[in-house]
Amino acid sequence: MTTTRVRPESAPAMEQLPVPPLRTSREIQGNVLAAFNKDHMAFRYMQFSEDKTLARGWLSAILNTVSVTADVEDFNEEFSLGRRAYGRDPDKQATWVGVSLTYAGLSTVVDDAKQLEADLENFPQFVKGAAASAGRLGDTGDSDPENWLFGSPGTGAVVHAVLLVASDSKAALDAKLLNIEAADGAHRVTLVHQDDGETLPGDLKGHEHFGYKDGISQPGVRDFHREDPGNAGHRDNRPGAKLLAPGEFVFGYDTEPHSTHRTGPAWMKDGSLQVVRRLSQDVLGWRKAVTEQTRNFQPGLTAEELGACLVGRELDGTPLAKPSDPLKGLGGDANDFDYANDTRGGVTPCAAHIRRTYPRAGMGERGSKVESHRLMRRGIPYGPVVEEDAAKDRGLMFVCYGTSLDEQFEFVQADWSNAKGFVPGEPTAPNCIDKVTGPEGRGRIELDRGPKGDIANMAQFVTTKGMVYAFTPSLTTLRHLAAGDPLPRS
Ligand code: HEM
Repeated sequence: MTTTRVRPESAPAMEQLPVPPLRTSREIQGNVLAAFNKDHMAFRYMQFSEDKTLARGWLSAILNTVSVTADVEDFNEEFSLGRRAYGRDPDKQATWVGVSLTYAGLSTVVDDAKQLEADLENFPQFVKGAAASAGRLGDTGDSDPENWLFGSPGTGAVVHAVLLVASDSKAALDAKLLNIEAADGAHRVTLVHQDDGETLPGDLKGHEHFGYKDGISQPGVRDFHREDPGNAGHRDNRPGAKLLAPGEFVFGYDTEPHSTHRTGPAWMKDGSLQVVRRLSQDVLGWRKAVTEQTRNFQPGLTAEELGACLVGRELDGTPLAKPSDPLKGLGGDANDFDYANDTRGGVTPCAAHIRRTYPRAGMGERGSKVESHRLMRRGIPYGPVVEEDAAKDRGLMFVCYGTSLDEQFEFVQADWSNAKGFVPGEPTAPNCIDKVTGPEGRGRIELDRGPKGDIANMAQFVTTKGMVYAFTPSLTTLRHLAAGDPLPRS
């Protein structure tokens, strides 16, 4: 995902706006609020030996390389400024590292596992592990944990830690991995599985494998992102991005008014819950089905138009919804829109992936809680494009952060994307499930401009191939864990 916007010339210089306090955090790991945003990324799922001292030694070694928010955001900001000044990507490179621990990993490292369990009573999904949520998430059939490459305790090695290594160049990534492998070997930490994320080549850079531009819409975070001087409560230079309370994504801060179950002990402060989900995409199957389904529409729709209806954006990212402000909201990065005047889905169908995963305004009274279900997404594609090698597996390494697995990731997947009963518009709007990530199923699309028709039993083209839930601790908590100190509770 590489979406760095060029700032309009007329706007006040970014450097002149006050620096928000979380922007300089050296406690919060760098991928949570700031985003690694690199073209090459290794996801390493690791298992500790039973020896706590060795596991703690490994954490000490990794601690020295973990990237923090201040450094990652300095880099990202300088990169955008360089782009603005020279009109092209500056020749600037970095390699970032992030580390997270599963419940099994934390239990291995701490002395008092009983206290750990008590500390985490508000986070049952995290404690039980991702595979235990398969029923709620619809991970059945080919997506069943018994077919996963990692994260399924029933069929594979238990994952204790997730290491993310991200770099602008493959050579720099490989060099970093060599160092890390030496630390693994010295501390008897074994690799359960590795996924390799790569942005797609050429014009597809920043797009996912079905061809659509990704990584456009992200929540703004109060006290981390700069506020738009002309539009209070909104992120500067990102029309449409509301600033949400930081406690939605990082523990220890205020949350949105309707959010619940997000408080934990003091050692969780400045940490976040991470979801990593390997989602395999059947690109040829998707293209064929979208083309075939166009026959069901009168008057006709092209495959490209129907695909855009199922995503809610065109291939280049342009939303089907009309911008709230016609001067600001144009183009492939446009995000300044909602569905308030389109409750029946005549412009952006209620089936559209972006509408089902963030219904914005357009849900009437039911919309009051919408902002409690936002995700900080950090995904990157894996595998070659289908034209290069159709036989190989490809898809999206879906990653997101938040402070509630229940209200954020699981809610969005289960209660919005997959749920046949959820219509993100007025109750009489035609129903349909999310065809990008939802299960096989039917549904109806009726566009105001004419075309109407049924999606008839379109199969599922995204399959889950592995998943972990992990906790991404602050630097202070990582130090406590590495030293074997008792974890602070208040
Ligand atoms: C292979 C699987 C997936 C594909 C191909 C995919 C594709 C896309 C695309 C093309 C966009 C529009 C670009 C953008 O707004 O950033 C998008 C947005 C989004 N997706 Fe996905 N996605 C996938 C999986 C998921 C999953 C598993 C979730 C959560 C359960 C999810 C949640 C979202 C959200 C929240 C947005 C932003 C909606 C908005 O704010 O308007 N996606 N996705």
